[in-house]
Amino acid sequence: MWIKFICCVLVIAGGINYCSTAAIPSYIHICHQSDPQLNDCIKNSIEELRPQLRNGIPELDVPPLEPLNVEDIIISRGVGQYHFMLNLTNVQVFGASYFELNKLKLDIDNMIYKMSVTFPNLRLKGDYAVDTRILSLPITSDGQFDANATNCEGVGILKGDLVRDEFEHLHFSDLTIDLKIGDYKLRLDNIVKGDETLNEAINELANSNKEELIKISTPFIENRAAYTLLKIANQIVNNLEYDKVFPK
Ligand SMILES: *[C@@H]1O[C@H](CO)[C@@H](O)[C@H](O)[C@H]1NC(C)=O
Ligand SMILES: *[C@@H]1O[C@H](CO)[C@@H](O)[C@H](O)[C@H]1NC(C)=O
Repeated sequence: MWIKFICCVLVIAGGINYCSTAAIPSYIHICHQSDPQLNDCIKNSIEELRPQLRNGIPELDVPPLEPLNVEDIIISRGVGQYHFMLNLTNVQVFGASYFELNKLKLDIDNMIYKMSVTFPNLRLKGDYAVDTRILSLPITSDGQFDANATNCEGVGILKGDLVRDEFEHLHFSDLTIDLKIGDYKLRLDNIVKGDETLNEAINELANSNKEELIKISTPFIENRAAYTLLKIANQIVNNLEYDKVFPK
């Protein structure tokens, strides 16, 4: 926003009516659509953008990836005796900016962008509330959680279209994420207040039944990650004139 504003002020002062087009910030690498190595060019521009992504881009209203704040992740399955509900709130994700970009498949004409990314190490911290039953014991509690997830692989499909307001820019209408969680370690603090032994036992159970917990929680994490990252992706492209960052 500020870049655009300052640019406008300068332009008005210079007497040229050029307000509708913002200058392209220097950290945005320009790729030509006709570039025979277009994939490599886009990969490089994402790499070059990494420090900005890590720290955030205040002038484009892009929040930092370190940490990435996720309002909540609500994991819920089953009813009655078999219900399981784990609410994670005020979640801070650390390590997202260390993604490795594996593959990129771009359908420029239809604006469908597919990418495969690995997150070697992610750490999540925040508040939890749990409501379930373990064996026949009802467990209802809340507190703080800490989790490490390793070797998470995500395949994201971004769909875009061109929107014209002040100028023509890309808008992402949809992001779907297919996530494979490699491994994780989860710790819920104080599930059973005042009974550290039982607490340990429950945490051990949560870390021994990994496949099951991954299966239950993955769709909820995919949804929330897609929602959060789509917002960030749009904040990046909203202020960039399409024909300037991606000329023919
Ligand atoms: C989890 O969040 C949902 C939706 O906000 C709420 O209805 C539910 O009561 C919460 N569960 C726990 C265990 O706090
Ligand atoms: C996650 O990793 C950090 C850093 O290695 C460690 O301090 C923390 O105890 C780990 N958390 C869990 C739940 O294992």
